[in-house]
Formats: sequence, structure tokens, C-alpha cells
Amino acid sequence: MPKGAHTNEEMRKSRQVREMFGSIAARYDLLNHLLSGGMDRRWRRACATEVASRLEGVNPRILDIGCGTGDLSMDFPRPAWVVGCDFCGPMLEIGCAKIRAAGRSGQIALLEADALMLPFADGCFDAVVSAFVLRNLANREQGLSEMRRILRPGGIIGIVDFSMPTAPVLGALYHYYFFRILPRLGKLISGVDGPYRYLPESVGNFPGPDDLRPRIESAGFTSVEYRLLTGGVAVLLLGIAE
Ligand SMILES: C[S@@+](CC[C@H](N)C(=O)[O-])C[C@H]1O[C@@H](n2cnc3c(N)ncnc32)[C@H](O)[C@@H]1O
Repeated sequence: MPKGAHTNEEMRKSRQVREMFGSIAARYDLLNHLLSGGMDRRWRRACATEVASRLEGVNPRILDIGCGTGDLSMDFPRPAWVVGCDFCGPMLEIGCAKIRAAGRSGQIALLEADALMLPFADGCFDAVVSAFVLRNLANREQGLSEMRRILRPGGIIGIVDFSMPTAPVLGALYHYYFFRILPRLGKLISGVDGPYRYLPESVGNFPGPDDLRPRIESAGFTSVEYRLLTGGVAVLLLGIAE
């Protein structure tokens, strides 16, 4: 199969994910902040801070994959040059408006692109970051392989996504909130049923950090490590392109 090609099943999942985010784009930010109690901002910031601290050079080039409404892109301070890409037009429109309003159009550019077939040459970025996206990709191996391809050797990868806390009390409380309360709240506020039922399902089916680490290594990364955030509700994975 040629590079980046999708099977019918992958195309179906990609279309479903794109339409789902399109249907909630207008309320996405509000719901994120509300349903996570504002923690989503901290998790993205932790990713940007860790990645920025590992970057050398004057004007690092950073790619934010599945940038959505642009929050992670905007967490990188000014000397960095950031490109955000996403395949959902309505999410990008909101992101572009936020970036314009913040006066950061000269530093951050957003474009429509598929994470499984990135429109960039090999090795042209110093860092690749992605928040809450890997779980949604129709083909995670292909997504990781594309991340590696567009990074220069020694470039940094930073991935943040949800996880499931394993501590007994926090785990049980979180499980109840995530599987029982969040889907109802999400439906009430977004007016759409599917996406906030999909969220806990997709997190429940997502590999934990100990399983993700070898997968990231297999895609061509070394020194892969992870940090649990907020007791393991989210996880930040970091590595270096070989
Ligand atoms: C949960 S949102 C995260 C958005 C943003 N990174 C954030 O931190 O809020 C997932 C995003 O990934 C995008 N996405 C999923 N699969 C994609 C793909 N194959 N190519 C590009 N974007 C994709 C969706 O359109 C959506 O905007």
C-alpha cells in the first residue's frame, strides 16, 4: 500500500472523527475547560514547557498536529515558529480567529492537513507536538511514523493525551465521572449526543503509557519517557527522533 494510503475502515473512521469535531467546534473550547475543570490548559502548557525546554537554537520550528482550535500552538512563546495542522475546517476557523485576536498571526500558521499524510518534507521541523489526537487517529502507527518523518534527527516529540488513573479511590471516582457524568454534561452543553459518549470509549480503548512507549520507540524515537499529569488523568510522553 502506498505511503499514507487509507483502508476503507481507516477512511470511515477519519470521516467520522472529522465530522464529530466539526459538529462540536463552536463549543469545543468551552466544553474542554468546563469538563476538565480547567486542567486541559495545564496539560497543554506542561507539554509546551517541557518541549520548549529541550529545544536548542534561536527560532525552533514546531508542528502541532491535530491543533484543533490552536491552544497548544499558542502555548509556545514567541521566538518559536509554529505550524498547526488539522483536518477539521470548523476547528481551524476558530483557531485562526483566536490567533488573529491575540496578534500572533506572524508566529503561528494553521493549515488543513491530514496527520496520516502530512504535506511537509522529511526532517523540516525541530519539534512535533500533539494534544488529545493520537487516540483519535485511524492509524496510530502511520501517525507516529509521519511525526518521525517530518522531524530532523534529534528533534523532540511531545504527546499529551488522556489516561486512566490507577490509584484505587481516584480511579473509581474518575471512572464514575468520566463514564457516567461527562457524557450527559457534554450532551447537554453541546446539544450533540455522540462526541461525549465517544470520548470515554476512546480513552478506555487507548493503550496506557507503558504500552505507548514501545510503540513510539518503534516509530524511530529514543529516550522515550512519560509523566503522569493530575494523578494519571492525563499523560505527557516525550522522546527524541533517532
Ligand atoms: C480532541 S481534539 C484536540 C484538539 C487540540 N489539539 C486541543 O488540544 O484541544 C482532536 C483533534 O484532532 C483532529 N484530528 C483527528 N484525526 C486527525 C487527522 N487524521 N488529521 C488531522 N487532524 C486530525 C480533530 O479534527 C480534532 O481537531
